[in-house]
Amino acid sequence: MARKLLIEHAEVEGIASFDIYRKHGGYASVEKALKTMSPEDVVEEVKKSGLRGRGGAGFPTGMKWSFLAKPEGVERHLVCNADESEPGTFKDRYLMEKLPHLLIEGMITSSYALGARSSYIYIRGEFMYILRILEKAIAEAYKNGMLGKNILGSGYDLDLIVTPGGGAYICGEETALLESLEGKRGNPRMKPPFPAVKGLWGNPTVVNNVESIAAVVPIVNHGGESYASIGIERSTGTKLISASGNLVRPGVYEIELGLTVEEFIYGDDYCRGIANGKKLKACVPGGSSVPILPHYLVTKTAAGNDRLMTYESLSEGGFESGSMLGSGGFIVFDEDQCIVRNTWNFARFYAHESCGQCSPCREGTGWMEKVLYRLEHGNGTLEDISLLEDINKKIEGNTICPLGDAAAWPVAAAIRHFRDEFEWHVQSPNEALKRNYGLIKAKLEV
Ligand SMILES: Cc1cc2nc3c(=O)[nH]c(=O)nc-3n(C[C@H](O)[C@H](O)[C@H](O)COP(=O)(O)O)c2cc1C
Repeated sequence: MARKLLIEHAEVEGIASFDIYRKHGGYASVEKALKTMSPEDVVEEVKKSGLRGRGGAGFPTGMKWSFLAKPEGVERHLVCNADESEPGTFKDRYLMEKLPHLLIEGMITSSYALGARSSYIYIRGEFMYILRILEKAIAEAYKNGMLGKNILGSGYDLDLIVTPGGGAYICGEETALLESLEGKRGNPRMKPPFPAVKGLWGNPTVVNNVESIAAVVPIVNHGGESYASIGIERSTGTKLISASGNLVRPGVYEIELGLTVEEFIYGDDYCRGIANGKKLKACVPGGSSVPILPHYLVTKTAAGNDRLMTYESLSEGGFESGSMLGSGGFIVFDEDQCIVRNTWNFARFYAHESCGQCSPCREGTGWMEKVLYRLEHGNGTLEDISLLEDINKKIEGNTICPLGDAAAWPVAAAIRHFRDEFEWHVQSPNEALKRNYGLIKAKLEV
């Protein structure tokens, strides 16, 4: 059974309350850091742990922290990105709902390391019920001397503010998030300057994902080296995976990085295989933004190696035959699912969520959605498939933020691996429509 560093106590009754969380060892990292460590010591442990950002890009957290500018007399901030809007990703929601104090503890310990005295949790607007859970937990932390002035008599002061998001996927992009937090429309900023130099209110700021911040708790409690001893290569520690789609047992799992994909899909401790005895057709391993893998590249790489749940292994083969770990949104498709329909569905999401600031993304995502709509609905041509590839290339790399790439990659990968199915939609539109109508009807009847 895998070690659990984050959600071990998630199902303990009452764990969302301060007292019960404390009884299970909660806030030990705050005591240890504030009483026995300097802020630099905490940063050093996080560096040693090898922790990589869990929000999607996998940037080393300790390195990000060490880039934070520290001009004298200027405030610094830690901002927790709890916007979690990527289709297929729902692990932060689980963590915050079940263990609000774990996130608050991570925020305190991390803010101390960064020298931040006012920190923020920016939470997806639709998670209003979790915002209430966090507000209650924050009030308890203030009451028990974990927040506010002179925390645990250490002389360190911290205020923690939780604020609802703007209701758009783009507000999860860190600079759009900062704009939104400042009360403006959530449009991504040009970089440089990076938030570490000029972030919230123009002050040096670190933006980290919920899970990255929560992981600082076991890192400080057990030491960076102990954390780094789990996992392989540059994929250390544990990772929360949101598993969805045609699985026997979908849900949120905490895995040790390095687990094989085979074990994750079929193992008794994890998803227990494909539902209803069907065959695996494809998998999107890291949220809707990452390339889809056809069944023969899910558990083995093109070179014949076992595919592992790590940053390195999931991307082995580049975009030709690999994908990405991303945010850990692991979506599984059985043999009955339609890749064209799914690609259209994702494209519809990105077209709706593009902020409109950059023309290639604003126009390109809309065009892709229209072309995929006609392919899916029996009016496509073979030229449409090449047209999609062409639009893709014009979006990728040509936008201020990576939403454009996130929209382009899944379409490119779907065509790369499932061109036959796209062509079938053109050549046998009635059969394709009939099959997909059957799928929709089956879903409605469930
Ligand atoms: C369109 C878009 C949406 C994003 N949404 C999220 C999100 O909901 N949560 C998140 O942590 N990161 C999200 N990111 C990544 C953030 O910009 C940023 O890299 C991340 O919060 C950094 O935290 P980490 O280093 O701990 O991973 C998004 C990025 C893009 C381009």
